[in-house]
Amino acid sequence: MTLRNVLPWVLRARQESWAVGAFNANTLEQMQAIVSAAQAEQAPAIIQISHRALLYIGNGNAIQGLKYAAALGKIAAESITAPIALHLDHGTEGEVSQAIALGFTSVMFDGDGLPFEKNISITKRLCDMAHSVRVCMEAEVGEVPKPDGKEFDEAAIDLTHPDEASQFTQATGIDALAVALGSVHGLKAKTVSLDLERLRAIHEQVSIPLVLHGSSGVSDDDIKQGISMGLSKVNVATQLAQAFTGAIRAVLNGDRELVDPRTYLSEGRNAQMEIVRERIRFFGASGKAN
Ligand code: G3H
Ligand code: 13P
Ligand code: ZN
Repeated sequence: MTLRNVLPWVLRARQESWAVGAFNANTLEQMQAIVSAAQAEQAPAIIQISHRALLYIGNGNAIQGLKYAAALGKIAAESITAPIALHLDHGTEGEVSQAIALGFTSVMFDGDGLPFEKNISITKRLCDMAHSVRVCMEAEVGEVPKPDGKEFDEAAIDLTHPDEASQFTQATGIDALAVALGSVHGLKAKTVSLDLERLRAIHEQVSIPLVLHGSSGVSDDDIKQGISMGLSKVNVATQLAQAFTGAIRAVLNGDRELVDPRTYLSEGRNAQMEIVRERIRFFGASGKAN
């Protein structure tokens, strides 16, 4: 199928209390694993490419990365029948405009660190641009930290305020809102609990689908609760990278003479497909392709 705007599935997920999985890809194999998993589970799914993945794919040039990702994402989606979106994850202002022009079907502007009014004005402009070509627009209020292995102060996390979430959503016209409920990007163990009371208050004031970032570090119990309370898109990156890299490490550790990249990358691809399938089932998205 051609790349889709999966907003109708995300809206349905909100109505029916399940979630569409949004899975990060940095390599061709990771992208293939996501579409194979979506097809095997007959589920809608989102391939997402982060700002740093763009730099990697484009060998230091984000625009080149967007071009590669747009071409590969299109081919990956067309290789199966389940609906697939190609999403720019944590994009800058310039990357969002370029992604829209290059055929991404969904984009996220990351206004992290911007003053609230500035975040609104840039997001609104990008949202109008996205909607003029029927691309889905996500943005964030509050902060899901990206510590990248560095120390950070949990107590200083800027959690999403329900009133600001409501004001931001109405002022910008976005389709999906990323909310900060205490999750943190890049954690290698599920040690975090979500502020579910905050989620309840946001859900009461905001009528669009809510997005969980940093799901790899969140306990499965809280993800499940959160989905029943309005989280309708769940982002997963680190858990996939753990599976992909772990499988490759096992192959390489087992044979120090091995040189053919296909022998270990295919194991990474298989391992990532299995974890994406498991997450799709866990989110309740299995069988929801139609
Ligand atoms: O939110 C971003 C994902 O965790 C991927 O992170 O590609 O910047 O490492 P990264
Ligand atoms: P994790 O790396 O914690 O799974 O976060 C994924 C994410 O939020 C991508 O936007
Ligand atoms: Zn994120």
